[in-house]
Amino acid sequence: MKQNPTKLLLLMLMFLFDTVPFICEKSMRERAINLMEDTRLIDGHNDFVLRLRMFYQNRISKVNLREINKTHTNLLKLKAGYVGAQFWSVYVLCSAQNKDAVRLTLEQIDVVKRMCNSYEELELVTTSQGISDSRKIACLIGIEGGHSIDSSLAALRMYYDLGVRYMTLTHSCNTPWSESSSKGIHNFYPNVTGLTEFGQEVVKEMNRLGMLIDLSHTSYSTAKTALRISKAPVIFSHSSAFSVCNHSRNVPDDILQKLKKNKGIIMVTFNADVLACGRKVVNVSTLADHFDHIKRIAGSESIGIGGDYDGVERFPEGLEDVSKYPSLIEELLRRGWNETELKGVLKENFLRVFREVENVRKISRAMDVGESEIPHEEVQNSCRLDLHNIQIQPDRSFGFPSMAQSFSLTIVFVPYLIL
Ligand SMILES: *[C@@H]1O[C@H](CO)[C@@H](O)[C@H](O)[C@H]1NC(C)=O
Ligand SMILES: *[C@@H]1O[C@H](CO)[C@@H](O)[C@H](O)[C@H]1NC(C)=O
Ligand SMILES: *[C@@H]1O[C@H](CO)[C@@H](O)[C@H](O)[C@H]1NC(C)=O
Ligand SMILES: *[C@@H]1O[C@H](CO)[C@@H](O)[C@H](O)[C@H]1NC(C)=O
Ligand SMILES: *[C@@H]1O[C@H](CO)[C@@H](O)[C@H](O)[C@H]1NC(C)=O
Ligand SMILES: [Zn+2]
Repeated sequence: MKQNPTKLLLLMLMFLFDTVPFICEKSMRERAINLMEDTRLIDGHNDFVLRLRMFYQNRISKVNLREINKTHTNLLKLKAGYVGAQFWSVYVLCSAQNKDAVRLTLEQIDVVKRMCNSYEELELVTTSQGISDSRKIACLIGIEGGHSIDSSLAALRMYYDLGVRYMTLTHSCNTPWSESSSKGIHNFYPNVTGLTEFGQEVVKEMNRLGMLIDLSHTSYSTAKTALRISKAPVIFSHSSAFSVCNHSRNVPDDILQKLKKNKGIIMVTFNADVLACGRKVVNVSTLADHFDHIKRIAGSESIGIGGDYDGVERFPEGLEDVSKYPSLIEELLRRGWNETELKGVLKENFLRVFREVENVRKISRAMDVGESEIPHEEVQNSCRLDLHNIQIQPDRSFGFPSMAQSFSLTIVFVPYLIL
């Protein structure tokens, strides 16, 4: 049989066109993997421990966290996704504000510590050096929502002592001192705009402590004021670009420009609703569009990653769980991002911010500890005891005062002794 030479050439060309892109894609994948082996990801936000409460009431001895499949996160998937450090969100619902938010937050901190101490592939760290040194998956703790401190700088300091290294100033509710970007979800403190005077004291105390200020979920005015007064770089732990999708959770261009000046970072979120504004197809390209836009406005050194896995239901196609981060890096390589830029996005940009926050702690004077209290009228509620003008009357009905009563007597009488 005689072959038509033109046909043969055509067949060869078809073969080439079929295989060349394939070889190309394979090498992009390999480049992404090689990069991530070398520079494992620091992810800014994961709500896995909220799921541990919802599904298991925090009884983690009853479940194998290596293989748990009800969640986007498990330890095997984190490893497959080249995650080197994870900020675990110790989020408690806004509906706990003015109720038991502080206890619930403590319980979430407890479960992170138990989790990270009981699996050999995890390790609790609290410093930038701790992240750099860790050969495991470094665990860090972030509070999501100022309602967790119950308007108390002392509570904030105690969280720092427990290892908390960032606090998101609001979740989807206003606090007595900070305004959220979400409107109409909750009805707390509707008249608060931006940061109140006490809110600004919170920011100053976070600077002094060396706690990262997280502005995801905050209103435009809160973010703007925090950027103006913070002495340290700030983060958005899980937000994307407002110009690409005008969701209230996303960051507008003028704030991105201020963030660049502040040398902070936005850790881009994968939450499909926040990325796509209701569009049907949401995939790796949708996410990469946010990266490209933010790079144009603020430069690649202002970017990180904060997936928000287990915080919401819907993620882009191809990014369904924490093992899928390499697909994003592959797409960004394809779009011309170079390896220095991507190492920044994966890890170095966050480390730079964290080191600078630690540096501000070092140069702050320990004696300037924040002793401000929020004005009583701004936090009045039935769960709050007011101890300002308390009169403790000794109860003599049983002849001898009990231990507690002696203590009360001391409180009442000591001032007289001093006088
Ligand atoms: C989770 O899924 C993987 C892969 O499908 C499977 O091998 C594993 O047994 C599952 N683990 C559990 C605890 O269901
Ligand atoms: C908010 O401000 C309005 C107008 O000044 C006032 O009528 C209302 O009582 C305030 N609401 C709260 C909860 O303080
Ligand atoms: C987003 O854009 C749509 C369409 O232009 C508009 O209807 C909507 O109000 C905008 N939302 C916000 C939060 O700006
Ligand atoms: C994402 O979806 C869009 C629209 O359907 C499509 O054009 C694009 O090729 C998809 N990207 C990827 C990486 O699959
Ligand atoms: C990578 O891109 C940055 C600009 O974002 C540029 O400054 C740098 O020189 C590039 N590095 C390489 C190795 O091409
Ligand atoms: Zn969130």
